[in-house]
Amino acid sequence: MSTSRPSARGLFIAFEGGDGAGKSTQAGLLAAALQAQDRVVLRTREPGGTPIGEKLRSLVLEHGQGDIDARTEALLFAASRAAHVQQVIAPALARGEVVICDRFIDSSVAYQGAGRSLGTDVVRRLNEWGTDGLLPDLTILLDVDPRTGRTRRTSGQAAEDRLESEPDEFHRSIRQAFLELAGREPARYLVLDAALPQQDLARRIAARVAELPA
Ligand code: TYD
Repeated sequence: MSTSRPSARGLFIAFEGGDGAGKSTQAGLLAAALQAQDRVVLRTREPGGTPIGEKLRSLVLEHGQGDIDARTEALLFAASRAAHVQQVIAPALARGEVVICDRFIDSSVAYQGAGRSLGTDVVRRLNEWGTDGLLPDLTILLDVDPRTGRTRRTSGQAAEDRLESEPDEFHRSIRQAFLELAGREPARYLVLDAALPQQDLARRIAARVAELPA
């Protein structure tokens, strides 16, 4: 298997965390800060990011698609990610761009591996095969208490999707899995308490990103 940056010249930053952690807000603030420094930034998200990925996104997230067993769910997320890497992320990195992605492999390891009890190692291997070994240069984990996350995302928002509507216990196992992943490779992670004020989070994230090789 190839190394973490097969043909990359750009920078690959992923945001991870439970539902309602505020990832999209922080991804947007980081993108704006980097663009202000004249960096070319590609913001994208998973599942999705390609036509096939958006179709898989509706299949796997919307209610009413019929039963989806855990293995099928894991394979759908992995397929969406494989297409995303091939069609969008790897080409942007090869052009020297900064790619900021809302969720990546760790979401599958946490949600399908831990949450759905498929096993974190097998889900990681499946996804690393799908992405040909591409890993983020930095993963920003916004750690959120599942109850806070649920309150945040349901206040004034649309109904919860298939994964979000799982019970608190499911979301607690996901949080634990994210923290374990970060604990194993501290150099490649920045873990922040999602309850901190937005501007505070943004400052800490920008400072950590500034330490990465340009
Ligand atoms: P999304 O609306 O993008 O949620 P958020 O804004 O919280 O990121 O929905 C993505 C949902 O899909 C979320 O509940 C997490 C789940 N998910 C997985 O279960 N596995 C995965 O590999 C990915 C990328 C997401």
